[in-house]
Amino acid sequence: MKYKIEKNTVQETLIIPLYARKVCSELYPNLYRDETAVRLIDEIDYDFSEAEKKSRSLMQRFGSLEVAMRQNDLAFEVRDYLKSHPNAAVVNLGCGLDSTGRSCDNGSCKIYNLDFPDVIALRNELLPAGKREESISCDLNNTEWFKEIDASGGALFFASGVFYYFLTEQVKALVQKMADAFPGGVLVFDAANRTAVKMIAKTWLKSAKIQDVGAYFAVSNAKSELSLWDSRLQVTSRGYMLGYNDLRDPSVSGFFRFLAKVGNGMMKMQIVKIGFGGRK
Ligand SMILES: C[S@@+](CC[C@H](N)C(=O)[O-])C[C@H]1O[C@@H](n2cnc3c(N)ncnc32)[C@H](O)[C@@H]1O
Repeated sequence: MKYKIEKNTVQETLIIPLYARKVCSELYPNLYRDETAVRLIDEIDYDFSEAEKKSRSLMQRFGSLEVAMRQNDLAFEVRDYLKSHPNAAVVNLGCGLDSTGRSCDNGSCKIYNLDFPDVIALRNELLPAGKREESISCDLNNTEWFKEIDASGGALFFASGVFYYFLTEQVKALVQKMADAFPGGVLVFDAANRTAVKMIAKTWLKSAKIQDVGAYFAVSNAKSELSLWDSRLQVTSRGYMLGYNDLRDPSVSGFFRFLAKVGNGMMKMQIVKIGFGGRK
């Protein structure tokens, strides 16, 4: 039996990065491997024929590399936080069918995967929670989920490809409430400037025939723009294509490295890291 993903829903957006991670695992195994994504694509009832056709185009291949690189970057941040907080809560916000939490498991952290109820129902079938792992149905904008997180050993939250679907006011309110509830915690997520976000909405989402999704949150200079939200926030950012990996692997063409520079420079595609201040 295969598990169905409904068309034209925000939840359907989880297909895009999942498929990209499979493609990237096949095209750039030196840089990225996600066996779970490869397996899950086979277990989902969804028409991948168009995605398959497109996945050979140059821009879609580059898009897949972007998705895989941001996952590597976020995983780097998770592992880095766990070095100083081995018992931390590792919280995947808008997890879809991503298994980054589990791949960073150090044997003592607590892993939480959060998404809308229908995504969590699907996740429970395909990726049932393992040891020290919980999947929680929620709307991230309703902070009821805070009480489910055991942050006694610290907390690292990450969101991959999620805040593009949030209004700027929603991201701001969420960050402020998280800073209140999780002093000493850290949030990392991918973001891009207005130009890039418009492009994401036009190309990726349109090509996946998703109509009812607005791409709202955009940021150019994270430090100066997001620090204004709250004096407690410690904001830094790194380009997500070249800020963590120089992409000098021979499997990556010179043209793709050039596009990566454009992504970092003109599109401000970045991993933003926000420390909530307070307790360490
Ligand atoms: C583009 S997908 C990314 C999925 C996953 N992070 C990944 O990289 O594969 C966006 C995910 O965010 C979830 N999402 C968006 N808005 C949400 C909200 N307000 N509350 C909970 N989940 C949300 C969607 O259901 C979807 O699974």
